[in-house]
Amino acid sequence: MNLDQLKDQFNEDQILTDSKSLETYGKDWTKHFTPNPSAILFPKSTQQVQQIVKWALNEKVALVPSGGRTGLSAGAYALNKEVIVSFEKMNKIVSFDDIEKSVHCEAGVITETLQNFALEKNLYYPVDFAARGSSQIGGNIATNAGGIKVIRYGLTRNWVKAITVVTGTGEILNLNNSLVKNASGYDLRHLFIGSEGTLGFITECEIQLTRKPKNLNVFLFAVPKLESVMEIYKSFSTEFNLVAFEMFTDVALKYIRKQGHVDSPLEMEAPYYVLLEIEDDNENTLELAMEIFESNVNKEHILDGTLAQNSQQATNIWRLREDITESTADFSPYKNDVSVRISKVPEFMHQMDEILKTDYPEFDVVWFGHIGDGNLHINILKPKNLSSEEFIKKCHEVDHKLFSMIEKLGGSVSAEHGVGLVKKPYLHHTRSQSEIAYMKAIKQIFDPHGILNPGKMF
Ligand code: MLT
Ligand code: ZN
Repeated sequence: MNLDQLKDQFNEDQILTDSKSLETYGKDWTKHFTPNPSAILFPKSTQQVQQIVKWALNEKVALVPSGGRTGLSAGAYALNKEVIVSFEKMNKIVSFDDIEKSVHCEAGVITETLQNFALEKNLYYPVDFAARGSSQIGGNIATNAGGIKVIRYGLTRNWVKAITVVTGTGEILNLNNSLVKNASGYDLRHLFIGSEGTLGFITECEIQLTRKPKNLNVFLFAVPKLESVMEIYKSFSTEFNLVAFEMFTDVALKYIRKQGHVDSPLEMEAPYYVLLEIEDDNENTLELAMEIFESNVNKEHILDGTLAQNSQQATNIWRLREDITESTADFSPYKNDVSVRISKVPEFMHQMDEILKTDYPEFDVVWFGHIGDGNLHINILKPKNLSSEEFIKKCHEVDHKLFSMIEKLGGSVSAEHGVGLVKKPYLHHTRSQSEIAYMKAIKQIFDPHGILNPGKMF
């Protein structure tokens, strides 16, 4: 591989090959893989990304895109001497259209920067998740990121008006031109959204903003059983457009407490906790919410509950849910991120819990998730006395049982984290052989030489 050809057009700080940088940029937040890239390039424009792709074609080198590296399916890992293309230096908000309320961003804009930009304009970018401070908009689009407000605002896909991509042939495509209505054939934009860098690299985008929600009410409930979680969901979602409906277990709370940053404001303990957020958009909101709450208490679906009285209390309640990932990070969690139809959540969780308790009693299993989206995160923590190899072997055994069950229930092996390397062996549980064949054929069209994020997804 000859980087010299790039040295004419790229500054010194745009090419790194030192071992520390290779280690840092060669991976994402996924554990259990070893990064092994050969260089990192930092383009500053779409044209420079095009130059890199053309160079890579010439050199027969594979490229791996790298955003905020917060992914959890090893979609941004370079294992085989690939060259990393980092979007860190493409981090400008280029323009704002105040009539359409949309923002033109380069791919490396941090999610939180976009959220704050929207707030400065008295608007709102509603896709939100704990990695907001590091994740980049390009990566969010490439993985169709979900998070904690999907139930109300949908996935990243819903907010992407246009994208610019560089394909595996080095062609620049401007897709959809920010039109609201565009009935002129296939919407290729949506093929690239969620394609995990396997079809093209997203370099720029136009993002729709929306009106800021009025005051948000955050409730926390202690709940005795899963069936009650669903009853609470049913009763509140009948009356409100819920902004969030999240669940975590007592085991998750145990790790939050171990970390010691926040504690539950509730007096009672329970096996499940529900975090509910609703917008205070009319004068009856709270009265109605309290009526529904009381009716759930009377039916013993809620054992204890609280409503945040100020923004600090709301933040603390949210931290009980959002800090779970961080509070379990030191226990080498083996992560799964699956989805089923919302109505099948209890059936799925009960069956899976039974398998885990009977066959793997030594595992501490942390369940949490976006119940309102049918999205469950199952994190198995490594017991101290088990070697990493033994642990992974056992987790793979669990995977087979888990994904067979997911297949039977018509669910997905990845709800929001993506396929990457981690879910690749299990894709067939969710997608038919002919679907996978069509996906491969699409990859062949946009990346005929297989240089973009090879080995990911399939
Ligand atoms: C979350 O919902 O907190 C994220 O998907 C992160 C995770 O699963 O660890
Ligand atoms: Zn999540």
